[in-house]
Amino acid sequence: MSFNLIGTGMYVPEKIVTNRELSLLVDTSDEWISQRVGVLERHVCTTETAADLGYKAAINALKNCNCKLEDLNLIIAATVSCETVSPSLACMIQKKLGATCTAYDINAACSGFLFLLETAAGYYARKKVNKVLIVGAERMSRILDWDDRDTCCIFGDGAGAAILSTGENYLDSTFTVKGGDDIINIPQFSGKSPFYEGETQEPYIQMNGQETFKFAVNAICDDITLLMERNNLKENDITYVIAHQANKRIIDYAARRLKFDDEKFYMNIERYGNTSSASIPIALDELNRQGKIKKGDLLILTAFGGGLANASCLLKW
Ligand code: UT7
Repeated sequence: MSFNLIGTGMYVPEKIVTNRELSLLVDTSDEWISQRVGVLERHVCTTETAADLGYKAAINALKNCNCKLEDLNLIIAATVSCETVSPSLACMIQKKLGATCTAYDINAACSGFLFLLETAAGYYARKKVNKVLIVGAERMSRILDWDDRDTCCIFGDGAGAAILSTGENYLDSTFTVKGGDDIINIPQFSGKSPFYEGETQEPYIQMNGQETFKFAVNAICDDITLLMERNNLKENDITYVIAHQANKRIIDYAARRLKFDDEKFYMNIERYGNTSSASIPIALDELNRQGKIKKGDLLILTAFGGGLANASCLLKW
C-alpha cells in the first residue's frame, strides 16, 4: 500500500521584487538574470516567517480536498530556511493549525518534498496513517547574502503543501545522495562558544553555480531515464515532468538531452525564482488548480540540490 495525493496548496508572500529592483542592490541586470536563470521576479517576506507561509499553504491544501484537521495523522515538513531549529517547522504549523497529530521536519534541501513523499510512503506501508500533510516552506531571503549577486538573484520565498490519503498512486521513486559541502553549503549561526577554535562561517547560502548546474542536468536525466525504463514508459505516457525550479536553462538542457518536448516540463521559475523545497509543491498546486492534470495522468517529480541530494518519483494523479 502507498498513497494518493488528494489535495494541494501554496502560498507566497505579497511583496514582489523585480530584477530591476535587484539591480539597484547589486551589480546585475534584468537581462542577465532573465537570460541566465529565467527569473523575472520573486516573492519576498517582509513580516511573515517560514512557518506563516507553510501554515497558509497547508490551509489551502486542506481546503482543496475538504480534509478535516482532526483527520490528519501526521505532519512532516521540509525546510532549510526556517527561523528556528526547534520548534521544527512542522511543529509550528501543527500549532498554528490547531492540529494534534505528531509532526517533525526533514532536511534534504531542494529535494525535500521528494523525501517527504518517501517518508510518508513508509507510514502507509506500515498502515500507520490515513491522512498526511506534507509541507515545503522557505524564507530563502533570510539566508541570502544580499551583497552576493551570485546567489541573491536566484532564490525566492514561498510554501507548497499536499495532502496524502491511503491509495496506490505513488508508483516508484529513486534517491541519490553524494554527501559533501563543497558545492552547496548553508552554514548555521556559528555560535559564541569561548572554547571553539574552529573555522566560523557567515550563515548564508554559498554555491558553486557551474558545478551545481552540471550535477542538476545529470541528476534529472539519470533519474528520469531510470524511472521510464523501470516502468516501461515512453514520453507520451507522461503528462508532465515537474522539475525543481532552479534555473530555466537546467530544465531546457535536461529536456533536450532526454529528447522530451519542452512543454512537458512545467515551468514557473519566472514568477517565483528558486523556492527550494517549496518549488515542486507550488508547481503541483498550480497545475492542479489550472485543471491541467486529470485523474489517471502520470507525473514525474524530479529534484536536486544541497546534500548533494537528488530524488525523483513517478506519481499517478
Ligand atoms: O536549488 C539549488 C540548486 N541550485 C542550482 O541548481 C543553481 C545551478 N547553477 C546556476 O543556475 C547557474 O550556474 C548560475 C545562475 C548560478 C550562474 O550562471 P552561470 O551561467 O553558470 O554563470 P557563471 O557563474 O559562469 O558566471 C558568468 C559570469 C561571471 O562573470 P565573469 O567571471 O564571466 O566576468 C559572473 O561573475 O556572470 C557573472 N555573474 C553575474 N552577472 C550579472 C554571476 N552572477 C551574476 C549576476 N548578474 N547576478
